[in-house]
Amino acid sequence: MSDVKNAKGGKKTLADIYSHLPDKPSDRTLEQVDYEARHWSSPVKGPIKPGSVEHKKAMADMFRETFNPYKPSVIPWPDLDPDTLHRITSLPIWDIAVQTEGKARLRMAAYAEVIDDPDVRDAISRNAWEENRHKEVLSRMVEHYNIPLAPEPPYKEPRDTEWAYLVTGFSECWDSFFAFGLFALAEQAHLFPPELIETFEPVMQEECRHILLFANWLAYHRANMPLWKRPLFEARVVGVLFFLLYERLSLVRSFDDQGVEHTQDNNFTVTGARSMTDQDIDFVNLMELCLRENERRFAGYDARLLRPQMAPFAARLAIGGVKLWKRFRGQKAAV
Ligand SMILES: [Fe+2]
Ligand SMILES: [Fe+2]
Repeated sequence: MSDVKNAKGGKKTLADIYSHLPDKPSDRTLEQVDYEARHWSSPVKGPIKPGSVEHKKAMADMFRETFNPYKPSVIPWPDLDPDTLHRITSLPIWDIAVQTEGKARLRMAAYAEVIDDPDVRDAISRNAWEENRHKEVLSRMVEHYNIPLAPEPPYKEPRDTEWAYLVTGFSECWDSFFAFGLFALAEQAHLFPPELIETFEPVMQEECRHILLFANWLAYHRANMPLWKRPLFEARVVGVLFFLLYERLSLVRSFDDQGVEHTQDNNFTVTGARSMTDQDIDFVNLMELCLRENERRFAGYDARLLRPQMAPFAARLAIGGVKLWKRFRGQKAAV
């Protein structure tokens, strides 16, 4: 695990920093920690220029100070009625979800290793640690409810650490935007017990912090890059986006130790939306819900920190397109 410098300048491993997570925090502490994980403002007055030292400090401080110290090993998993249990165990997402967290941890940790700046390295190392905790939460849930998983493929250290970090970062930006909406949909539809929703709520908010960090790292990285490196970097960003599109359109097949084929869809939104509710979901309503949830989850963080723009922009564009298409078809039908 990466070494990071603690606030007093001494060397501490992330494992040291997080090895004293409380077993049973009081309700008051839980409330306070939850509030602090969702609200953060830099004490710096005035505008914060993307790429500046103040910007870098704000991004790293935000990430460190909004840490939520929950411990996966003490999460109480609720008893589920047979229908709910079946609904959860048959969701075709568990293999991908566990592996995605594992890959994210490895890629973030690998990228953190090559960063010289201690603040940026610290923030990305912490992000890697949190991805590992997500994996632990999921693994414990899968074990508790006996969800059959395909064996995890070996996690390989990426050779191109910047590319791997960009893939993970952009992928989290897209997936989290839709996951925010789907999570709210699941809550509204009452298809899962509230205890389970409550358990995953901090995980959702953590993804919001992760993509807030990524969006700000991207702006900081761009601003501090020599001009001659920019064209190649932007070409890589476009390459990453095409790669993610290709990945989401393809199915993932794997076999478990009983020889049973697991076909999983990288397209969380479509698969997830179908599983989260019994009712038909209107595309425009779902996208509007994603936008509202996205806004709500980011609302507590310093407005001078940049937000991921791409997924909300694409959602607004798609809503506009669908509405226009419906109006056009309505006019045609009326003629
Ligand atoms: Fe995660
Ligand atoms: Fe994440």
